[in-house]
Amino acid sequence: MESIFLVMIFLSSIFIATEAYRSSSRTIQCSHGGPEIQFPFWVKFRQPHGCNSSGFELFCRENATAIRFPSHGDLLVKSILYDSRKLNLIDPKSCVHEVFLNLNLSLTPFHYYYAVRNYTYLNCSAPLSNPFKEIPCLSGARFHVYTVESSLPMPGSCKKIKTVAIPFSYSPYISDNTFGLGLTWDLPDRERFTSKGHHHILSIGRGNGKAVLSIGIIVVALVVLVSITIYRSREMQKLKKEQKLEAHKLLADS
Ligand SMILES: *[C@@H]1O[C@H](CO)[C@@H](O)[C@H](O)[C@H]1NC(C)=O
Ligand SMILES: *[C@@H]1O[C@H](CO)[C@@H](O)[C@H](O)[C@H]1NC(C)=O
Ligand SMILES: *[C@@H]1O[C@H](CO)[C@@H](O)[C@H](O)[C@H]1NC(C)=O
Ligand SMILES: *[C@@H]1O[C@H](CO)[C@@H](O)[C@H](O)[C@H]1NC(C)=O
Ligand SMILES: *[C@@H]1O[C@H](CO)[C@@H](O)[C@H](O)[C@H]1NC(C)=O
Repeated sequence: MESIFLVMIFLSSIFIATEAYRSSSRTIQCSHGGPEIQFPFWVKFRQPHGCNSSGFELFCRENATAIRFPSHGDLLVKSILYDSRKLNLIDPKSCVHEVFLNLNLSLTPFHYYYAVRNYTYLNCSAPLSNPFKEIPCLSGARFHVYTVESSLPMPGSCKKIKTVAIPFSYSPYISDNTFGLGLTWDLPDRERFTSKGHHHILSIGRGNGKAVLSIGIIVVALVVLVSITIYRSREMQKLKKEQKLEAHKLLADS
């Protein structure tokens, strides 16, 4: 009897280990310590299934993880937080406001993680006085670029470049290159990826892997519980038998 339960526990363990391995093999990295890439993101040529032509394609550039935006170019992926759906990007040129100025997310599954406001980029032939702070990486010796509230009247020496909805205006106090380059994504409509021929749905993603693991753990826990219960009741029966025998012996002896 015990051996059957041992076999069941053994099989459950194998099942869990296999599932853990299978879900981990769906995750890849461009380099050791790099962001883990899994659904809905995918890497061309290295992961067979993904959301094709939907904006989630990443690529490995040397050791770095990168993403390409047609409106801007390549940005590096610093981290991907799947639970909070946050993609943290780094501009390799360290000019976040150049990214804000050019990046057009309208045809992508992404939008800024933080709430956006309309700001106008100004290109001025003369520097503006305080409190305006020019953006060094967009400015030159003879022109000065600023982000201003879009409702502000335009100074005479300036030309409007563009009004864009961005999470932050320029601040010289925040020099962190990654600041503000957080995107979030709308979960892709899985239907779109099942209907089209040979690239199939990646049906067991991270979430499902977790579910499988939990079910596995529950199964093992139940099996252990049941075997303990059965073992105990058998022990009890043994004990009762022994007590009966003892009682018989005592009766016989007296
Ligand atoms: C992915 O999309 C591109 C263009 O959008 C297409 O050329 C390619 O064949 C597609 N790949 C798969 C696997 O469907
Ligand atoms: C990539 O990683 C290898 C090994 O960690 C290292 O030797 C190499 O310099 C890295 N290359 C770049 C471009 O960072
Ligand atoms: C972004 O791209 C869309 C579609 O191409 C276009 O309609 C829109 O005007 C663009 N937005 C900006 C701020 O350039
Ligand atoms: C920015 O301005 C555009 C055009 O005036 C408007 O449609 C949009 O709602 C504004 N966005 C924000 C965040 O205020
Ligand atoms: C600002 O204007 C100058 C010339 O007037 C031009 O060379 C420069 O590219 C402009 N900068 C931006 C960010 O539009």
